[in-house]
Amino acid sequence: MKALLMLGLLLLSVTVQAKVFEHCEFARILKNNGMAGYAGISLASWVCLAQHESGYNTQATTYHPGSNSSHYGIFQINSQYGCDDGKTPRAVNACGIPCSALLQDDITQAIQCVKKVVKDRQSNRGWVSWHVHCNNRDLTQYIRNCGV
Ligand SMILES: *[C@@H]1O[C@H](CO)[C@@H](O)[C@H](O)[C@H]1NC(C)=O
Repeated sequence: MKALLMLGLLLLSVTVQAKVFEHCEFARILKNNGMAGYAGISLASWVCLAQHESGYNTQATTYHPGSNSSHYGIFQINSQYGCDDGKTPRAVNACGIPCSALLQDDITQAIQCVKKVVKDRQSNRGWVSWHVHCNNRDLTQYIRNCGV
């Protein structure tokens, strides 16, 4: 019982540090920021992408040893192209921001940056999990009953 309580407190302390969006809340914010259909990508597609890239966790960070780069935030933007983490070789920093800016609870900057990336790239083909989990699938479940 005591151990369970400790585990509960531990989990709570972990979760308060990272903002993890509920999918409908996330969908509404995306819609309010003009993401529905942005660069030809549907709202449901964006939600699917974020679900499988970060689990809607703003603090998600993944290191990719092959390129010595990392992916940051709810959209898992790559430090090789989108942002500057001060340690990625041949980084472009197309969004002109530190990668830490992509980990904030307020996802305004992350949205601005992901828009820049897909506009520059003319697609969302760069996201592997989008291919695996979202492309050519029925994505209605991602925004069902969200009122968007
Ligand atoms: C990644 O870092 C290692 C160690 O510094 C280096 O040997 C390797 O060449 C780097 N790879 C790339 C793709 O920059």
